[in-house]
Amino acid sequence: MESVSPVPRAPGAKPVVGHLAAFLRAPLAFLRSLPAHGPLVEIRLARKSVVVVCDPELTSTMLVHDRVFDKGGPLFERLREAGGQGLATCPAAEHRRQRRLIQPAFHQARFPDYARIMTERMDAVIGNWRDGQTLDLAVASRNITADVVLSAVFGTRLDHGLHVRLATDFDTLLAGFTRHSLLPKPLRKVPTPGNVRYERATRRVRQSMADLTTQYRESGGTGETNLLSMLIAARAPESDVPALTDDELVDQAVTMYSAGTETTAGAVNWSLYLAATHPAVHARLTAEVSTVLDGRTAGWDDLPRLRYTRQVFTEALRMYPPGWFLTRQTQQDTRLGTYALPKGTTIAYSPYLISHLPTLYPDPQRFDPDRWDPRGGQPRLPAFVFGGGARKCIGDEFSLVEGVLLLASLLSHWHIDLHRDSLTAPRLPQLTLNPGRLRATLTAHSRLRGVSEKSRGRRLGQVSRRG
Ligand code: HEM
Repeated sequence: MESVSPVPRAPGAKPVVGHLAAFLRAPLAFLRSLPAHGPLVEIRLARKSVVVVCDPELTSTMLVHDRVFDKGGPLFERLREAGGQGLATCPAAEHRRQRRLIQPAFHQARFPDYARIMTERMDAVIGNWRDGQTLDLAVASRNITADVVLSAVFGTRLDHGLHVRLATDFDTLLAGFTRHSLLPKPLRKVPTPGNVRYERATRRVRQSMADLTTQYRESGGTGETNLLSMLIAARAPESDVPALTDDELVDQAVTMYSAGTETTAGAVNWSLYLAATHPAVHARLTAEVSTVLDGRTAGWDDLPRLRYTRQVFTEALRMYPPGWFLTRQTQQDTRLGTYALPKGTTIAYSPYLISHLPTLYPDPQRFDPDRWDPRGGQPRLPAFVFGGGARKCIGDEFSLVEGVLLLASLLSHWHIDLHRDSLTAPRLPQLTLNPGRLRATLTAHSRLRGVSEKSRGRRLGQVSRRG
C-alpha cells in the first residue's frame, strides 16, 4: 500500500501570525507561490491551520467526495451568519434535498425568459446614461446584476426602496467580510466601528429579504414563475407540508443574492479592465459588438454571434475567478492523494491558484482570450471556476449568459474610457475577486463617429489619462 505522509508546511511562517501577513499583503501572489511546495501545502493564518490543495486531480477528488470534505471552515461559518443554511452553505446531509427543490429554476428551458429580464434591466439602466457622464462601473454593473438576480428570484415588481437598502447593506457586508473571517473570534466581538457596521449590515440584509418575502406572499405573487414562487409551492414528498419554512426561504433568497451578484459583476468588470489594458483585444471585441448589435442592448438571440465576447469573458474568469478561495472541513480521518488528513482539518481549494498553473495554462499571467477559441478544442471553461462535484455552482449558465449580455451591451451603447486610477487592482480581495473602483467616462458612439477615422483609431482601446 502507498505510504501516507503528513502535509508539508509552506516556508516563511512567522511567529504568532504564521503566513497571515503575507496572505493579506498580496494574496494572489501568495497563492501562486504555493504549488512549488507540493500538491497539498499547509499554511497558518494566525492560529488557524489551512491545507491548500495545489493539484487539479486532488481538487477534483476533494470536490467529488463532498460528504467527507463538507462545507465548513471560517469562510462558511461567516457566510452562515448571513445566509443561514441556504444551498451554498448547508451541510452535505441537507444539500441533496435543497438542490432538488431549486434545480428546476435553473433548467435550460428557463433561460430565454431570464435573458429577456436581463436585456430589459440592462436596457433601462445602460440606455439611460448620459453622453459624457462619469460613473463607477463597478457599482453600476453590481446594481444591474443585483437587479437581475432579484427579478429572477422575486419577479419583476419589487419595492425599489427595499432593493436600494439591500444593495447598500450588502456592500458593507462584503467589504468587511474577508477581514472579519480572518479575525480570531474574540476580536470579532470588539465593538469597533467596522465590526458594528458589519454586524448591523448582516442583520439588516436578512430583515430586508424577510420583508421582500412577506411582501411577495401578501401580494399573492406576481403571476410569474420565479424561484420564490417555485419554492413556496414546493411540498415535502407525499404530503401537503411546505418544503421550506419562511426562514429557509429567506436563507435561499440571501444565498442567491450573495452568490449571484458580485460574482458575475466582478467578471464583467475584469473583462472591461483587461480589454482596456490590451488594445488589440479591445479592438476585436468592440468590432464584434458593433457588427452584431449596432448600438442595441444584447439579447438571447445574439449570443451565438457574440463569440469573441464570450472568449474575453471566459479569459477574465480564468485570470480573476470571482470565487477565488473556498474552504471545506474533513468530517472524518481521511487521506487525499498520499497525504493523511485528520478529522476537522480545514482544507481550501482555489480556482485562482489552479487557473494559474502553467501546466494547465501556459504563460498563465498573460491575458489571451484566444485560449478559448472554440476551434482549439479545449474545455469550455477554466478548471473549477464554478467549483465541482455536487456543490458545483447552480448559476453557472445563468452567469455566462448574463456576463456576455452585460459586457456586450455596455460596449454597444458606450465608448468607455476607464480612468487611470481604476487600473490598479486592490491589494486584498474580498469574498469575491473584484477590481474595486472602475471610474469611467462614457462617450456615445454617435459622437465618436464624428471624430476623424485617424484619431478614432488612436483612441479605441486606449486607456484614458484622466483621474
Ligand atoms: C461568474 C459568476 C459566478 C461564479 C464564478 C460562481 C462561482 C461559484 C463557485 C466556485 C461555487 C462553488 C463554491 C464552493 O465550492 O464552495 C458556486 C456555488 C454556487 N453558486 Fe455560483 N458563481 C457565479 C454566479 C452565480 C450565480 C449568478 C448564481 C445564482 C443566481 C450562483 C449561485 C450559486 C449557488 C446557489 C451555489 C451553491 C451551489 C450548491 O452548493 O449546490 N452563482 N458558485
